[in-house]
Amino acid sequence: MRTEDLIHFCPPGRLIIGAGSRAELPALVAHLGYRKGVFVTDRFFVTSTRWVDEYVKSASLLGIETIVFDGGEPDPTTTLCDSATQSVREALKGAAPDHVVALGGGSNIDLAKALCITLPSGRPVRDFVGGLTSADNPIPLIALPTTAGTGSEATPGAILLDPNNATKVAVMDNSLRPQIALIDPEFTFTCPPRVTADAGIDALTHAIESYLTLDSAQYDRNGHPDPGYSGRSSLTMLFAREAISLCARFLKRCYDHGDDVEARTGMCYASIYAALSYGSAGLNAMHGIAYAVAGLTHRSHGTTNAVVLPYAMEALSPYRPVEMVEIAQIFGICGENPDDTSRALCEFLRDLVADLGIPTNLRDLGIGEGSLDSLTRDGLTVTRLAKSFPVPDVEEAYSRIVRNAYHGDLGKFPRREANKLLDRI
Ligand SMILES: NC(=O)c1ccc[n+]([C@@H]2O[C@H](COP(=O)([O-])OP(=O)(O)OC[C@H]3O[C@@H](n4cnc5c(N)ncnc54)[C@H](O)[C@@H]3O)[C@@H](O)[C@H]2O)c1
Repeated sequence: MRTEDLIHFCPPGRLIIGAGSRAELPALVAHLGYRKGVFVTDRFFVTSTRWVDEYVKSASLLGIETIVFDGGEPDPTTTLCDSATQSVREALKGAAPDHVVALGGGSNIDLAKALCITLPSGRPVRDFVGGLTSADNPIPLIALPTTAGTGSEATPGAILLDPNNATKVAVMDNSLRPQIALIDPEFTFTCPPRVTADAGIDALTHAIESYLTLDSAQYDRNGHPDPGYSGRSSLTMLFAREAISLCARFLKRCYDHGDDVEARTGMCYASIYAALSYGSAGLNAMHGIAYAVAGLTHRSHGTTNAVVLPYAMEALSPYRPVEMVEIAQIFGICGENPDDTSRALCEFLRDLVADLGIPTNLRDLGIGEGSLDSLTRDGLTVTRLAKSFPVPDVEEAYSRIVRNAYHGDLGKFPRREANKLLDRI
């Protein structure tokens, strides 16, 4: 508890977690009175798993009609969303769906979230960037995440690439939070190591970034009575701490041994707990700069977060010394003083990123030194993230993070032996 907190906590309507829990979904959908749904996924799930077919058949037996859209793609664009809107509306032949189901990673869930707001009117998704009005009435969403992960099943936003914009754009409102988030760890068993690593480091970034972000008492809600994000609080930090601890135990194990059921399940909990933290606390520079890096390189969301994470933490460490030591302790790291410990933590995380097969500097992502200034500017344009970075000079901090991330520079400490540290946990 912190007396100064101003908590505005927005979880999904229902949170269901459990191995095999997907089998319970059709009955719940019927119980809620839904009758006509749109199922948003991608080709992988239709061709390589039985999950889509099983759901559609079971739902049909309960009187629920479902149209399947399987054109989801990694990192959906506004263009994909608009073409999906048109093709689903044609398939619906004027009928109004009463729910949307999303099966997939953050990409399919975000596309489905955006469709919840575009399908009723057929308007382009760009109309909704910057906020919904009270007249907009999104279709209820049921999210079935297959990565562990993005946590999109618990957040108010759909993140889309905009071909006309240097960074990602967001369609955001609490009404877009899923009515049901169903986390069946078995969905993640088929994730290849690359997807496991990218999604897992995303979850860890969410947990750490929201643990260190601006306090709820200082957060600028812009006068909004129902803010999507409202700063960290004792409640969000509780989830963040547990998520970091689960990532410390299971992220690398999950990447090394994809058939380790306990590790897979642990990362599913890490992902949703991280989302219950950042989904109300919000994020800051790590994602702000990562969006700009993604705009430039088109590398995956997890990879662009991972490359920025240690350098953003380094810039933040003078202003969050206690929390840096707490996170270090979770990873089994202790230095001679808080400064040492913070630096050792940043080194350790950079080594963990490398061990997950992800580049640890911007040069290795193919970014040239000449792009650094524009990258810094593009990161700063996502103002909701920049203004939540709790440092006195945000512009200077962004510039430092980008330059350090380019050079791979974390200061004077020697490379740590990440595996030895992980073995101690
Ligand atoms: N809305 C939010 O709050 C939020 C938060 C974080 C990230 N995101 C977005 O999420 C996206 C990244 O999502 P992601 O990391 O989950 O990856 P993804 O959804 O982009 O999926 C990557 C690839 O992995 C495949 N895949 C997914 N699950 C699989 C499984 N179980 N088995 C085999 N293959 C599988 C997909 O088919 C796809 O080809 C980005 O676009 C990012 O912007 C959104």
